[in-house]
Amino acid sequence: MKFPPWTSVSEAARLLKTGEVVAIPTETVYGLAGNAFEPKALAKIFAAKERPTFDPLIVHIADIAQLSDIAKDIPEAAYKLAEAYWPGPMTIILPKKDCIPDLCTSGLPSVAVRFPSHPVAQAIIKESGLPLAAPSANLFKHVSPTTAEHVAAQLADRIAGIVDGGPCTVGVESSIISLAGEKPAVLRPGAITPEMFAKVLGSVDVKDSTSKPGQPMAAPGQCDTHYRPQVPLYFGELPAGYKLPANTVRIAFGKQNGPIPATVNLSESGDMAEATANLYAFMHDLDKPEYGLILVDPIPNAGIGMALNDRLKRASVKALP
Ligand code: TXA
Ligand code: MG
Repeated sequence: MKFPPWTSVSEAARLLKTGEVVAIPTETVYGLAGNAFEPKALAKIFAAKERPTFDPLIVHIADIAQLSDIAKDIPEAAYKLAEAYWPGPMTIILPKKDCIPDLCTSGLPSVAVRFPSHPVAQAIIKESGLPLAAPSANLFKHVSPTTAEHVAAQLADRIAGIVDGGPCTVGVESSIISLAGEKPAVLRPGAITPEMFAKVLGSVDVKDSTSKPGQPMAAPGQCDTHYRPQVPLYFGELPAGYKLPANTVRIAFGKQNGPIPATVNLSESGDMAEATANLYAFMHDLDKPEYGLILVDPIPNAGIGMALNDRLKRASVKALP
């Protein structure tokens, strides 16, 4: 790996204006940013990540007023949500304006928009003067990065810059809500829970975010094998009598007993926000060839715990080694 291309806010903004791609911190996970209006920059994002172009990108803004540069027919509900949860870990799907290239939305007539709360992300968006398309800054199907070092380990020699904004405080990708259909629908669980959406909108549908074989994806890109470390990770009940492979490591949650002592603990006190902020960093840390299996404790499937269960189910192997 070559020396990571560490860069500053102003240099990142300059690079973005010239059509380069740069990894930037956000409160959820690090993003790989490029000019959302520039198909060549978008193409560089897909190439650097080895991401198939049927998986659309999220466009990042730094002012609610920018929403109407990107989306059209914006319902009142979008402004209500923006008022309540932006800047923050929420992405809204809306009908797209023609100025957003098809490459950004994988040909969909809708666009995903987010206003992140991370001050460094906001500074870069503002200084570049551009809406920035940014998927998570990892190789396709790998674990999302929650530190600048995670980004460097995967993408250092493929991108023009990396801005270090410290560890992500939320630690899991934004909640996605679609306002482009008949009824508001949560497409991806995150820190903004269905209850929080319902509080603003009255009621919301919650879609099963994994795709069914042979069916078009409800939210393109929501493959059921996302977020996978190289070492097999298992999230689920162990069959009776199953013999753990040598060098199994355990990601514990709270004070539960497990078949082996905890290697790391997401949160000793069972705090869900702390657990969320730790999960991807632990998955990165334990993804080493010397380990045979990563075993993860059950986590309550409520609130932001739904996001953790969603990501861990995708990360988990279906058959034990
Ligand atoms: O927290 C986040 O959302 C992070 C940071 C960088 O902002 N970004 C992120 O991007 O997680 P990414 O590319 O890993 O996930 C984007 C997902 C797509 O896989 C797809 O499921 C959904 O957003 N998406 C994007 N545009 C969509 C659209 N028009 N309709 C439905 N789903 C869409
Ligand atoms: Mg991603």
